[in-house]
Amino acid sequence: MPKVCILAGDGIGPEIMEQALRVLERVGQRFGREFSLEHALIGGVAIDATGGPLPQETVEACRRSDAVLLGAVGGPKWDDIDPAIRPEKGLLGIRKELGLFANLRPARLFPQLRDACYLRPDIAARGLDVMVVRELTGGIYFGEPRGEETRETGRMGYNTMVYHEEEIRRIGVVAFEAARKRGSRVCSVDKANVLDVSRVWREVMREVATDYPDVELSEMYVDNAAMQLVRDPSQFDVVVTGNLFGDVLSDEAAAITGSIGMLPSASLGANGPGLYEPIHGSAPDIAGQDKANPLATILSVAMMLRHSLEMPEEATAVEQAVEQTLDQGLRTGDIAQQGDGVVGCRAMGDAVLACI
Ligand code: NAI
Ligand code: MG
Repeated sequence: MPKVCILAGDGIGPEIMEQALRVLERVGQRFGREFSLEHALIGGVAIDATGGPLPQETVEACRRSDAVLLGAVGGPKWDDIDPAIRPEKGLLGIRKELGLFANLRPARLFPQLRDACYLRPDIAARGLDVMVVRELTGGIYFGEPRGEETRETGRMGYNTMVYHEEEIRRIGVVAFEAARKRGSRVCSVDKANVLDVSRVWREVMREVATDYPDVELSEMYVDNAAMQLVRDPSQFDVVVTGNLFGDVLSDEAAAITGSIGMLPSASLGANGPGLYEPIHGSAPDIAGQDKANPLATILSVAMMLRHSLEMPEEATAVEQAVEQTLDQGLRTGDIAQQGDGVVGCRAMGDAVLACI
């Protein structure tokens, strides 16, 4: 029986998680599956209960699971706390403890939500369904040497972008595997016209590609990729890139869809559990009011079923149920346009359940 560790977290975390777990239970009934759930503390609730954002017990509960499902962490209550134990440190900590080096961020414009999209209507009409695969544990965020110094010439700061062949290969494999489950195209994004590290990145990506003759590899400079994402995102399927470029491009891709409450994510390691979570935060402004959109978390359940629990049919059923719910016109506040009736978090969950 697959084990899932549940980290509801803070703010809207518990509300959106409740709906996600109802969906998981329904999937179990519909497909004759059982899931063993273990709840653990992270973020602000963990600080309140134990004094720190990531209790050892939580790390162990995650380690003995096949997947981790997370709501969101943080909120004004913990804003003035010692920065070393902020709620967000729980998130960074668990990613590190689980060795999660690959961040998968699908940005999809649901046709039903085209009005919310920031792109020109004729471009939005062509569709946007991109999965950014971002390397998470290497690159310029972690490279040495790094620092700040004052020299005769004045103050200076520096960081180093380093990628080892093995780091590039493993993120490449994740991207090509993901492409096989989608549109069979990978675009590797780098800055090989300027950066030496990018030339190694390209070489290794091309080597990985030889193991995937069924997947098409293309290459693009990051500045062009940023432009192409808004000019014609329909050209992309999977985009694989390093830590820094992936940080920027994944936010760009998400933002142009215009619906933060709709977007899931996955973080994967070499072995051990993957971590699944909505890309949004704990939305303290609407917490506890039954206003949150649970669909990003429900779609994170779908990603979990597909990428960690090897239940592709079940994943598709969840995704189709979300589509049908949108087709029926149900909208939470974040995705409502003028004139739409607005439903709450629980009603949205009810509607998805009814469609599975
Ligand atoms: P946020 O994503 O929580 O909220 C931004 C805006 O989007 C707010 O107006 C919020 O009401 C709305 N929103 C977000 N998710 C929604 C949903 N599911 N349904 C409807 N509306 C939704 O980002 P913000 O306000 O910058 O951060 C709030 C707290 O969350 C902070 O403590 C921050 O550190 C934390 N945070 C946590 C993250 C995580 O757990 N992965 C990621 C980002 C922020
Ligand atoms: Mg970012």
